[in-house]
This record gives sequence, C-alpha cells and structure tokens, in this order.
Amino acid sequence: MKLVVLISGNGSNLQALIHAQQAGRLQGEIAAVISNRDDAYGLQRASEAGIATRVISGKDYADRAAYDTALGDAIAALGAELIVMAGFMRILTPEFVQRFAGRMLNIHPSLLPKYQGMHTHQRALEAGDTQHGASVHFVTEELDGGPVILQAKVPVFAEDDAASLALRVQTQEHCIYPLVVSWFCRGRLRMQDGRAWLDDQPLPAAG
Ligand code: GAR
Repeated sequence: MKLVVLISGNGSNLQALIHAQQAGRLQGEIAAVISNRDDAYGLQRASEAGIATRVISGKDYADRAAYDTALGDAIAALGAELIVMAGFMRILTPEFVQRFAGRMLNIHPSLLPKYQGMHTHQRALEAGDTQHGASVHFVTEELDGGPVILQAKVPVFAEDDAASLALRVQTQEHCIYPLVVSWFCRGRLRMQDGRAWLDDQPLPAAG
C-alpha cells in the first residue's frame, strides 16, 4: 500500500517510519513526503532515503480551501491510500478531511482526550500530571478529536521540563506510529461509525 507522510519540521517520526519500511516492518511504501515548509529537516531525511519530496507552501495559495485542494490533488495523483500526518502543523479543512475520511492518521503528543492543541508537554507539567504520553488517532473534522487507536504512556519526573518530557514522549511515538501504520497497511485497522476497529473489534474510547 502506498502512503504519503505530511511533515512540517524535524521529521523524527518520519525517520521511524523510514526505518520500519527499510526493515520490512511497515507493510507499505512511503510514496512521497510532503511538507508545507521548505526548511523542514524531514525533507532531507526523505531525500537521503531516496523518497520523493514535495513542498506545498501556504504562501502560494489564496486561502486554506485552495491549499487543501492542491494538497489533496497531489496526494491523489500519487495513488496514495493512506495519509500519515507526522508533525504536520496545519489545520485541514472539513472538505479535505471528508475527501480522505478513514484514510488519515495523526500522532499527537498527549494522552488524548487530554491536551488537544498546542504546548502539550508544558500543560501536562503545569497540571502536575504524573503520566503523559502520545496518541495515534484517525483524523476527523474535530481537531485532535478523532478516534484513538493506540497510546503510549511515560512517567513524568519531578525534574522534567518540557524538553526532557518531549524527548521521552517522542521515543515512544517512534514505536507506536510505525506499528499502527503497519496495522492499517495490512488491512487490520479501519474507522467505522466514528470508532477505530482493529481486527474487526471496536477499540475502546480513550480517556
Ligand atoms: C511530534 O512529537 C508530534 O507528536 C507532534 O509534533 C512532533 C513532530 O516531531 N505533533 C503535534 O503536535 C501535532 N499537533 P517530528 O517532526 O520529529 O516527528
């Protein structure tokens, strides 16, 4: 199965997906990496792995609708069946989400439904949480609100700051994201009736 990875920055999750593909663990082929920023380090990671890259910058489009149409058309032209958002820092229009319904995954750095949106590590620290983590979920029109597929938990230590906590969370992201992508590529995972299903069993709602 062909997939497209959307990035905006460092691309450490992309790197984990590339490693999984190279090791034969992904069950899919990263057809291209698309970034909204031309300075995203992940573009270099993709090039080094021989993966096609494309920059689609918001600056070149009049509005979000035009951007999302161009992005969707680029993805469709690649024949990709799955969109993997890996640190892609744009909010997508409902039209885009509907176009690829059930075929978009995102990773979010919190134990959803906690801390949707930005600054998740800082918010977990300020709340005094003793556990934090990351969630892989299907993308729906509700920002960071789609059905959760898999979460990884990490402890929060007294001496943590946002950077140390982010590092601990990201190490787990690199494990769970390739695993979930491999489930999808094997046909084990789907979204139906607003829920995530694995091996024909509905997954419990998170939280
Ligand atoms: C990851 O930690 C991911 O969970 C987060 O951005 C980081 C990207 O890192 N995503 C979001 O905050 C989405 N709202 P990476 O570029 O090194 O993969």
